[in-house]
Amino acid sequence: MTLDDRLVSSEATNTELTSEQQLRPATLHDYIGQKNVKDNLSVFMEAAKLRGEALDHVLLYGPPGLGKTTLASIIAAEMGGELRTTSGPAIERAGDLAAILTALEPGDVLFIDEIHRLNRVVEEVLYPAMEDFCLDIVIGKGPTARSVRLDLPPFTLVGATTRAGMISAPLRDRFGVLSRLEYYNPEDLAQIVQRSANVFDTVLSKEAGYELARRSRGTPRIANRLLKRVRDFSQVNGESIISLESASTALEKLHVDPLGLDHIDDKLLKGMMVQFKGGPVGLETIAATIGEEPDTIEEVYEPYLLQIGFIQRTPRGRVATPLCYDHFGLEFPNG
Ligand SMILES: Nc1ncnc2c1ncn2[C@@H]1O[C@H](COP(=O)(O)OP(=O)(O)O)[C@@H](O)[C@H]1O
Ligand SMILES: [Mg+2]
Repeated sequence: MTLDDRLVSSEATNTELTSEQQLRPATLHDYIGQKNVKDNLSVFMEAAKLRGEALDHVLLYGPPGLGKTTLASIIAAEMGGELRTTSGPAIERAGDLAAILTALEPGDVLFIDEIHRLNRVVEEVLYPAMEDFCLDIVIGKGPTARSVRLDLPPFTLVGATTRAGMISAPLRDRFGVLSRLEYYNPEDLAQIVQRSANVFDTVLSKEAGYELARRSRGTPRIANRLLKRVRDFSQVNGESIISLESASTALEKLHVDPLGLDHIDDKLLKGMMVQFKGGPVGLETIAATIGEEPDTIEEVYEPYLLQIGFIQRTPRGRVATPLCYDHFGLEFPNG
């Protein structure tokens, strides 16, 4: 494997599509929901095409599974460039990044996933590349060392992160487009699972689609995963169409609660309500109590629980809301 293969993958070269790839919409038109992000991006892409320029660099941020990687590949396809994919932790040295950048063709999209995990030295190579499409490299060592400037082709950097707050200000400032992906509403998710069912040649009743949508924590990746499992049950039972009844039964067997909360949400919320009497409790404390990483709680679990109003963040820590007590059939201490 060459250095280039190790650091960068080009999805376009794969001939056999995995089910994950089949499910990925290929055009902005097929990308459901996120209207605001889509509307803006389509204007920026159109304008860049009219001027014959590369699209300005785009930073996509939001919780996992909302469609950041998908959107990066759509941007490449719409702009007519090749998608080159890598990630923050994969690029260890400045030279690694230089190798990737010098291999780009005009109009390519370089996708750096988990961009908040780039190290400082690598980040500094990225600044002139983003700003002026050039690369400053130092040749030699000691007193004879000299700096050489290489021109790069115009390209678009698409960065993705679940932790916008962890991106350094100088890096963030070099993105021309900052797009925050939101949790999907049930209508959009229902449309997404119907589209996925279609890709799988499976018939999903409208009601069953809504049931899946409601239990997917606003997240397409979860919706698609539930669809696959529900389809398994239905197929084994010899059904030609996934009905609401069979979807509900399957979801019950999968222990997916009516709001899509899983056992970690369960532990987290019950820990807050029972052990800490509803809070406030600090992130580190609650994480240690239930044996999860604070980062995972903050990145993956909390955003959705905040969104549905089950917890609130206060200066003194997290608190569980009356809505949360209600869901678990517990009595709110001060209510
Ligand atoms: N807007 C959307 N419309 C249809 N499917 C979507 C959409 N966003 C995401 N998906 C599906 O959800 C899955 C997860 O998306 P992905 O781009 O990998 O999320 P992220 O990179 O943000 O973690 C993909 O397989 C894709 O099929
Ligand atoms: Mg991704």
